[in-house]
Amino acid sequence: MSMIDEITREKWILGAFPEWGTWLNEEIDATEVAPGTFSMWWIGCTGIWLKTQNGTGIATDLWFGNGKRTQKTKEMAAFHQMRNMTGGRATQPNLRAAPIVFDPFAVTEVDAVLATHIHQDHIDPYFAAAVLRNCAAGVPFIGPQGCADLWKKWGVPDSRIKVVRPGDTVAIKDVEIVVLESFDRTVLVTSNETLEGTLPTMDDKAVNYLFKTPGGNLYHSGDSHHSIRFAKHGKEHKVDVALGSFGENPVGNQDKMTSIDILRMAEALGTKVVIPVHHDVWTNFKADPLEILLLWNYKKNVLQYRFKPFIWEVGGKFTYPDDADKLQYHYRRGFEDAFTDEQNVPFPSIL
Ligand SMILES: [Fe+2]
Repeated sequence: MSMIDEITREKWILGAFPEWGTWLNEEIDATEVAPGTFSMWWIGCTGIWLKTQNGTGIATDLWFGNGKRTQKTKEMAAFHQMRNMTGGRATQPNLRAAPIVFDPFAVTEVDAVLATHIHQDHIDPYFAAAVLRNCAAGVPFIGPQGCADLWKKWGVPDSRIKVVRPGDTVAIKDVEIVVLESFDRTVLVTSNETLEGTLPTMDDKAVNYLFKTPGGNLYHSGDSHHSIRFAKHGKEHKVDVALGSFGENPVGNQDKMTSIDILRMAEALGTKVVIPVHHDVWTNFKADPLEILLLWNYKKNVLQYRFKPFIWEVGGKFTYPDDADKLQYHYRRGFEDAFTDEQNVPFPSIL
């Protein structure tokens, strides 16, 4: 049989996806974090892999699914949160815009799996299955009650699930995780019931996390909208790096923070670095994070900003404090060993 005859759709899928294969898995596994620092990788959306100087690995909001893949369903399901929010019926065109940069089934070790909230782009059955199969028997799954319910429904044993609420702290090796309030109002309109006149609760569906590591503190705000209460979190905790969900809200939506919200959040938290996330993943909420840098430059002198933004890329690594002043990320460009050998060119001046 010819090569063409043996090619199938399944072979294409296995050969092309996940797009990065195990490249990033290998990088995370091999990284030794220097004392006095912490490193993290952006897995996409708000998915973050955090690693400490003692090798502790914490995976928050890792998600390996996607969005719309067909136009056949014309309307969102009744009571879908975006239908509840907007009163619109038409299927939202939220196609996944970012590649999958980590192979969940190639996970080798992790010390805790966390989710900030119940929405499908923040908690993942594939990763849960892979962690249960590949990793140590005691790895906990930590999240608010709604996340615990999802993990339980998927088959994560009760003994592995830890429900947290704002005010709780959890120790994972050398990391202290402080559980804080979420300000994700989209979670409040996620309901299968008529909501008018009701008083929905947040803490059982969504939380924020502060990770206190030996190398600095990371604030993960999940899908929080802007809130004046970021100032309270900043007053009560030292924040070195803060992540905020950024996006270009379609008309009729109030779902993601805008560039101004990201700057206000950073100022209120007293963070040293603010990093926008989530704008990568949905086609219909795609936003240009350089807008944050532009506005930061415009306002930093008059408002005496004490923080810097960092404009990241999915699959990229950030180390605090080493990268705190960098402002923008670029993928490794390679070719560090150019001219190790003689070139194979017709004559030296050819290029
Ligand atoms: Fe989200």
